[in-house]
Amino acid sequence: MSLPDPAPRYAAHLDTLKARADEALARGGLDHLVIPSGRLHYQHADDLNYPFYVNPQFKAWLPLTRVPDSWIVYTPGQRPRLIFLQPRDYWHVVPAAPSGWWVAHFDIDIIRTADQAAALLPKDVARCAILGEAHSALGAYVPNNPEAVIDYLAYHRAYKTPYEIALMRQAQALAVRGHRAAEAAFRAGASEFDIHMAYCAAVGQDATELPYGNIIGLNEHAAVLHYTELERVAPAQSRSFLIDAGASAAGYASDITRTYAADPGSEFHAMIQALDAAQIRMGQAVAPGVDYKQLHLDAHLALMGILKDFGVITVSPEAAVASGLSATFFPHGLGHAIGLQVHDVAGFAASDRGGRIERPEGHPYLRLTRVLEPGMVVTIEPGLYFIDMLLDDARAAGHGEAINWDRVAQFKPYGGIRIEDEVLCTETGADNLTRPAFAEG
Ligand code: GLY
Ligand code: MN
Ligand code: MN
Repeated sequence: MSLPDPAPRYAAHLDTLKARADEALARGGLDHLVIPSGRLHYQHADDLNYPFYVNPQFKAWLPLTRVPDSWIVYTPGQRPRLIFLQPRDYWHVVPAAPSGWWVAHFDIDIIRTADQAAALLPKDVARCAILGEAHSALGAYVPNNPEAVIDYLAYHRAYKTPYEIALMRQAQALAVRGHRAAEAAFRAGASEFDIHMAYCAAVGQDATELPYGNIIGLNEHAAVLHYTELERVAPAQSRSFLIDAGASAAGYASDITRTYAADPGSEFHAMIQALDAAQIRMGQAVAPGVDYKQLHLDAHLALMGILKDFGVITVSPEAAVASGLSATFFPHGLGHAIGLQVHDVAGFAASDRGGRIERPEGHPYLRLTRVLEPGMVVTIEPGLYFIDMLLDDARAAGHGEAINWDRVAQFKPYGGIRIEDEVLCTETGADNLTRPAFAEG
């Protein structure tokens, strides 16, 4: 599959960011946008740093993710400026001098020590919107994250530019390489740890470069929503495999989940297929004007239809949703916005001036309550799980009769199922970013 090239789309992306910054600064009554890339964090009483994760506000402007103590300055009407730290250092590899297709769009100052940035930042610090974590402060340049500025930028970050979509497609293709290698390792009887290593090798990214810790669960471990233990020893028999793993492309994330059964003749495999078909339909429902909350509620009903078909619940799907029983088997949200962060910002934003759209009552883990519009990218990740704690709670809450416990016992050794894709909302409907990457192989 030929992937779109981000480079020719960068100038327009930058124009969009500048226009957003102009408006955000106007709303904040400020003159300069100042964005530190971030600073290394060190372990207590040690000179070892934690992995560096760049400020998302910084990587929105530049495809640079490994450059601590650098700064972007943007003043409306002027070219953006990059203050780029290239230290004199023989202990570490020094970041290479800026090069590539984005360089022509910036005025660039090279500094040799982090402190040298201060002299190059706008003189009147009171006129600056400084976006970042407190730890990035440099003298008087303390991140202030003005609410009006942040609200505006965060709200509009939901609408991806063609440059961002190009990078997100790259992140899909990379992750799919890993998913293929992981499935092969599962079928060869590998341990969770070895599956993880096969994934990283195929993607070409290690755990600190991936957008989140790989979730790789065999058998009952698939029932732990964020299972990240990575057992070193393979079970005697691998019946099922849930992998939730992504990749990064210039700081943009993918977030993909697949579930496999070892035995294609098993009922669990049939349940995966039913969920897969339902998940495709849920993704196809993404369209402008669609309320994501409604997609989430519709997913509950569809998933209870599957459990009814497989004889796991004894009541109607409608009754299972109405009584709250559905959350026993589907205890998380349908998905979230994604982009510079796996769980991207402003999922609840009512407007670019703030405000919050609350979750529907009884759905405490839904991360996205906005109405979909063109340019948004969301995950669609329905799941069905057999989780002891929640099953016990359901029984205690009086749902015992609504559950066929023999069927639960038959499915429990497989843990659970989740299928997750990224879907772009277009002018006319849905563009699933993940499925074509798998189809291409
Ligand atoms: N991988 C975390 C999530 O799916 O939200
Ligand atoms: Mn995921
Ligand atoms: Mn997700």
